[in-house]
Amino acid sequence: ATERTLSIIKPDATRRNLTGKINAKFEDAGLRIVAQKRIQLTIAQAQQFYAVHSERPFFGELTEFMASAPVVVQVLEGEGAIAKNREVMGATNPADAAAGTIRAEFAESVGENSVHGSDAPETAREEIAFFFSGLELVG
Ligand code: CMP
Repeated sequence: ATERTLSIIKPDATRRNLTGKINAKFEDAGLRIVAQKRIQLTIAQAQQFYAVHSERPFFGELTEFMASAPVVVQVLEGEGAIAKNREVMGATNPADAAAGTIRAEFAESVGENSVHGSDAPETAREEIAFFFSGLELVG
């Protein structure tokens, strides 16, 4: 089925001017960018977005990193978009990511790993609604 997923191009990637190269990977895989904006998160917003990880030892590091430079938040649409996006991103830790994936090519570490993608339909809905109104989604 056609799905939508929430993608974030993270600060390590926007700093290195990799937005276009990462978007090309999504588009080459058949994903359509149906909404996109570049924003600067506050630490409070990063904490809210990643609230599910609030008990993890890396929560402080993660939320400070996400607020350290602009991010590009986007909605990707396509057949099986959630799984397809995760395939294109590669494993969370770039050391484990398959050749040709975004994280294998661009990520710097498990924390500074260039991209985020929703992990399931329910989280995709919640994460899209966190950043976008219905009016901003242009299929
Ligand atoms: P993401 O998909 O954005 O969701 C949670 C993030 O936590 C994950 O990608 C990683 O970038 C980050 N993360 C996971 N493990 C660690 C870790 N050990 N140290 C720092 N960040 C981590």
